[in-house]
Amino acid sequence: MKKIIVKLDKRSYPIYIGTNIISDKNLLKNINSKNIALVTNKKVQSLHLSKIKNNIFKKNKIILSDGEKYKNQESVSKIYNYLLKNKFSRDSVLVALGGGVIGDITGYAAATYQRGIDFIQIPTTLLSMVDSSVGGKTGINHALGKNMIGSFHQPKAVIIDVNILKTLPKRQFNAGMAEVIKYGIIKDRAFFNWIAQNHIKIKSQDPNSIIKVIKKSCEIKANIVSLDEKEVNIRVLLNLGHTFGHAIENNLGYGKWLHGEAIACGFLIASAVAIQNKTLKISEYEQIKNLLKLFNLPTKLPKNININKLFKTMMLDKKVKNNEILYILPKNIGNAYITSKINKNIILKALKDHA
Ligand SMILES: NC(=O)c1ccc[n+]([C@@H]2O[C@H](COP(=O)([O-])OP(=O)(O)OC[C@H]3O[C@@H](n4cnc5c(N)ncnc54)[C@H](O)[C@@H]3O)[C@@H](O)[C@H]2O)c1
Ligand SMILES: [Zn+2]
Repeated sequence: MKKIIVKLDKRSYPIYIGTNIISDKNLLKNINSKNIALVTNKKVQSLHLSKIKNNIFKKNKIILSDGEKYKNQESVSKIYNYLLKNKFSRDSVLVALGGGVIGDITGYAAATYQRGIDFIQIPTTLLSMVDSSVGGKTGINHALGKNMIGSFHQPKAVIIDVNILKTLPKRQFNAGMAEVIKYGIIKDRAFFNWIAQNHIKIKSQDPNSIIKVIKKSCEIKANIVSLDEKEVNIRVLLNLGHTFGHAIENNLGYGKWLHGEAIACGFLIASAVAIQNKTLKISEYEQIKNLLKLFNLPTKLPKNININKLFKTMMLDKKVKNNEILYILPKNIGNAYITSKINKNIILKALKDHA
C-alpha cells in the first residue's frame, strides 16, 4: 500500500492507495466514534458496498440517487435528515463511497452539519481518485450554476482501492485520464512521457501502472493544494482547459460530454492558444493531441457548436476578472502559466481551428 500526505498543518491527511484495501477487516475500525455513516448511490452500493467488511455500514448508510442532477440541496437534506433522526453528534464521521458527485455532496454535508464534522473519501471513479477526492473542495449545484454552493472542507483520509475501477465503464475511465494528462502538462514532463509510453498497460488496468498513475496524480495535486489551499495563486493552474471545457459542457447541455472529455478538448485548444502566444512548440501540441487520441478523448469541438456563443459563455466563467478572462496556458509540456493578456481574435481562431 502506498501513502501520500497532503500537508496542511493541523488539517493534514493521508491518501492510501492499494489493491483490495477496502476489504481489509480493520478498515475504519480505529475511528473513535460511535456515529459513523456511509453515503453512496444505488449503483455503487450494488457493485461495491459488500467489499467493505465493517458491519456498521450494513445499517448506517444513506443511499442517494445516481447522477449529477442529484448533486443538489435535496440530497444534502437527505443526509442531514438521517443524521438528525439518528442523533448523530458533532463527533460523527461521514464516509463517501462513490465518484465525484457523491464525494462533493458528502463533503458539503460534512462541512455544514453542526458547523462541520469529519469525513473520509473512498473514491470509486478514476476522476474522483486523481482529482475530486483530494483538495477539500466540496459543494453542490444550483439551478443557476454548477458547483455554485460549497465550502472548503478537507477530508480526514482518502482511501483508494484500484480494484474498484474494474467495473468502471471505459468512457468514464478515459475521462479520468484527461485530468491525469493535465497534471503531466502543468507539472511533470517525465510523467507525461511515461503515460504515452505505457498507454497500453494503463488502458488494460495493469495494477502497478494504475497505482503509478494515481499516486503521481495525487502527489502533484497534494503539493499544489499544500501550497495554495484556497486557490489564490498556483492552484489556479489545475484549471488548465477548464474555462474552455466548462463552456463546452454548458453549451452542449450537461451530460452529453463527460467533464474529462470537455476539458481534454479544452486544454488542447489552450495549447493552440499557447503556440500563438509564442510559448508552446507545435511539436508539443502534436504530442498532447496524440496522447488524447490514445485515450479516445476528443481533439475537436462537438459538431455544430456555435463558437461565438461558446466565447460568451467563457466570459461568465469564475476566472473572469475585470472583464478579462484569466487563461491558463502550457509554457511547454511540464509547465503552465496564467495570463489575461490574450487577444480575443487569437481565442476565436483557436476555437475555429478545432471546430
Ligand atoms: N471537488 C473537486 O475538487 C472536484 C474536482 C473535479 C470534479 N468534481 C466533481 O466531480 C463530479 C464528477 O465526478 P465523476 O466523474 O466521478 O462522476 P460521478 O460521480 O457521476 O460518477 C460517474 C458514474 O459512474 C458511476 N460509478 C462510480 N463508480 C463506479 C464504479 N467503480 N464502477 C461503475 N460505475 C461507477 C456513478 O454511479 C456514475 O453513474 C462532478 O460533479 C464535478 O463537479 C469535483
Ligand atoms: Zn476537472
